[in-house]
Amino acid sequence: MKLTFIGTGYVGLVSGVCFSEIGNQVTCVDKDLAKIERLKKGDVPIYEPGLKELIEKNTSLGNLSFTSDLTSSVQNADIVFICVGTPSLPSGEANLEYVEQVAQDIALAMDGYKIVVTKSTVPVGTNDKIKKIIGQLTPHPFDIVSIPEFLREGSAVKDTLNPDRIIIGTASERAAAALTELHKPLTDEIMVTEVRSAEMIKYASNAFLATKISFINEIANICEKVGADVTHVAKGMGYDNRIGSSFLQAGIGYGGSCFPKDTHALIQIAGNVDYEFKLLKSVVEVNNDQRFNIIAKLNHSLGDLQGKTIGIWGLAFKPNTDDVREAPALDIIKTLLDEGATVKAYDPIATENFRHFFRDEAVVQWSEDALEAAESCDALCLLTDWAEFKQVDLAKLGSVMKQPILIDGRNVYSRDQLADTNFQYYSIGRPQLESLSPFRKSVASD
Ligand code: UDX
Repeated sequence: MKLTFIGTGYVGLVSGVCFSEIGNQVTCVDKDLAKIERLKKGDVPIYEPGLKELIEKNTSLGNLSFTSDLTSSVQNADIVFICVGTPSLPSGEANLEYVEQVAQDIALAMDGYKIVVTKSTVPVGTNDKIKKIIGQLTPHPFDIVSIPEFLREGSAVKDTLNPDRIIIGTASERAAAALTELHKPLTDEIMVTEVRSAEMIKYASNAFLATKISFINEIANICEKVGADVTHVAKGMGYDNRIGSSFLQAGIGYGGSCFPKDTHALIQIAGNVDYEFKLLKSVVEVNNDQRFNIIAKLNHSLGDLQGKTIGIWGLAFKPNTDDVREAPALDIIKTLLDEGATVKAYDPIATENFRHFFRDEAVVQWSEDALEAAESCDALCLLTDWAEFKQVDLAKLGSVMKQPILIDGRNVYSRDQLADTNFQYYSIGRPQLESLSPFRKSVASD
């Protein structure tokens, strides 16, 4: 099929590329000319495993092209996908300015029947608005469909080519049939529903996953006080099929471009119809507090942070991405600087994106090497669970630090790994290992 994807952010670019990979003729459109020029040269503006290779392959096969010419790309397509951003307004509501503008642009470009699919995450009722906008501006027939996107950053290509499910929200049998056909090579789990339910499925799914994370983080906080180990508790809970084992990893909370934005938006969507979403409000509050556990643990081990040097490992909101949006590291580093500490920070790939937030802060030293970031530090805080950190030689790490204090915000290390070191080790929701005694060594078993 001939497909046009408008917006070359994570969703638009990855979806477009993956649909070209399964044999469709795809055009990716963006009004950002510089970005289009980069993409034409095979220079990919985001870090996503496997994406660059697929772009090179499908561009040279002639299945994939990039342009800023929206009109001809809409005219050439059977199906047009809206994939532009819906950032949060200060109220928490999604900003629909870009989606509505693109709907107008599509309407003015149309020269015959089109299927218009919204992939951007939009509040319930937005597709009805899009239908109205397009209907007012074009005499041509069209159908509106909502297909929410569930890809995760860092595994976006894999998720798009192997989705758990595809949700098709539409009132049109013709559009449902075409989109079922299009997605068939990817999965058999295709659900057709009405537009508003499809829009809600996206918010409800992300809110539920965020709830799981805040739930396990609160359990972790209680575990610390009662002497239980949250990793064992989560494992034990996960054996129950009704609960499931995923998204029960305790840590310093979620970040990223989706969960924070979508949870706020759903609270607002509920508020707009006079419903107070109490549970989700608490989920957000717990998540906001959780990152400050790191500061509390630092204060516990070092007291006043004035004049102390703190190493930070991990700036991205999660591993395998250079995305730092809503990353816990942002709040943690700001607080450390406010408390008078000097910060040395390292991330395998996200430093460039991160340091824009700290342009004037000469006090942050950006390292290009993990060990260098830890050198002469009074304490080291691990904020992102990059694989690289898991393989580090802990004895060597301890030897370069001023004080061997390790605050593990993602529970990366096992007690066995710590057993032969002199680290004062703090993690999230696990029994304290301030300095390992011979007795502790003999019982350390996970
Ligand atoms: C998420 C959804 O998973 C995806 O379906 C949706 O389309 C977009 O939002 P993403 O933001 O890429 O994807 O990241 P994800 O891998 O889901 O992780 C989100 C955050 O939760 C990360 O900060 C991660 O560190 C944190 N997390 C995840 C936990 O703290 N514990 C867990 O058990 C799982």
